[in-house]
Amino acid sequence: MRILITGRNSQLAKSFIKKLDEILIRQTMQYLRYDKVSSSRWDSNATYYRAFGHTFFDICDYNKVKHILDSTSFDIVINCASYNDVESAETDDTQAFQTNAIGVANLAHLCKQKNIFLVHFSTDYVFDGKASKMETKDKMFPYIETDNTRPLNKYGESKLLGEQMIRNIGCNYHIYRVSWLYGDGRQNFIYKFLQWCKTNDKIKVTNDETSVPTSCDMVADVVLEMLKYRNNITKNLFHLTNAGFCNRYNFALEICKCLNLNNEIIPVSLDKIAYHFKAKRPKFSAMNNNLVSALSGVKVLNWQEELDKYLKSEEFLEIYRGIV
Ligand SMILES: NC(=O)c1ccc[n+]([C@@H]2O[C@H](COP(=O)([O-])OP(=O)(O)OC[C@H]3O[C@@H](n4cnc5c(N)ncnc54)[C@H](OP(=O)(O)O)[C@@H]3O)[C@@H](O)[C@H]2O)c1
Repeated sequence: MRILITGRNSQLAKSFIKKLDEILIRQTMQYLRYDKVSSSRWDSNATYYRAFGHTFFDICDYNKVKHILDSTSFDIVINCASYNDVESAETDDTQAFQTNAIGVANLAHLCKQKNIFLVHFSTDYVFDGKASKMETKDKMFPYIETDNTRPLNKYGESKLLGEQMIRNIGCNYHIYRVSWLYGDGRQNFIYKFLQWCKTNDKIKVTNDETSVPTSCDMVADVVLEMLKYRNNITKNLFHLTNAGFCNRYNFALEICKCLNLNNEIIPVSLDKIAYHFKAKRPKFSAMNNNLVSALSGVKVLNWQEELDKYLKSEEFLEIYRGIV
């Protein structure tokens, strides 16, 4: 499997790089132990990757992307590049659409021409958070893959157009809609919340904005597992999150509990603080991961269990020491 990763500095790409490095180490150990005599077997079975950042590999630059895909042979492109600033997208929608739709179309066209499998990521913000999800006030049904989309903001619109571009162009692909990602990066709630905790004793957090905190490492595990089935499962969209769901207030409380933080967290309604934001946000955009967890066979943990594990990990503690 020869893999190209775009957006190498994104939190998600960092998880893929970590997981692929682990695979490479295992492969090398295996080769050194058992397989020295058969180097051809090593070559054909080996997983190999290259990861490119924005400067060297701008997905919006068709000629440059083509040049790189012409000069090295890849089986798979994992696209982690994205314009993710939900607020800025409201005023800078040209750039959001350029990256999240046109850039994605560039990749899809070239992947189709070269018979490369495309892995792409979208978002829960393709949903409006309303309507059929609510059976009663307390019982909500997370969105499934076939539910109707209706983004409330420009970021969501641009990501939905990216999905449609891939489908229309017709390369082989897996699209994964993910939500509230966290990992080694700043574009996540944990990082932002800990920054607020540093300077504020009292912090207001919405208690009616609900989705699923999702670990980048878990996403990488499931996606790499699903790639094994790419010849049979070829043009599919999946919802990939940790299990369960919560509102941001509960997310914040869980972080405080795990890290022994004493800040006072005050629940507020999104409507009360909406004037701070240019972009509208869905109130309930949790997604159901049943399909992909059954197909991949990976045990996907509940968001709380996964979060606790992450916040206790050496990797997070290193990031945390850089924040406080
Ligand atoms: N973060 C979340 O909570 C969340 C929620 C739902 C869905 N997602 C989706 O999950 C995927 C991964 O998100 P993430 O949080 O890991 O991303 P991230 O950390 O925000 O990183 C995005 C990366 O894309 C790069 N990039 C931007 N424009 C590019 C271009 N034209 N060409 C190449 N690279 C470009 C950026 O580089 P520069 O910084 O150098 O511009 C950055 O390294 C994205 O598709 C995102 O939409 C994320």
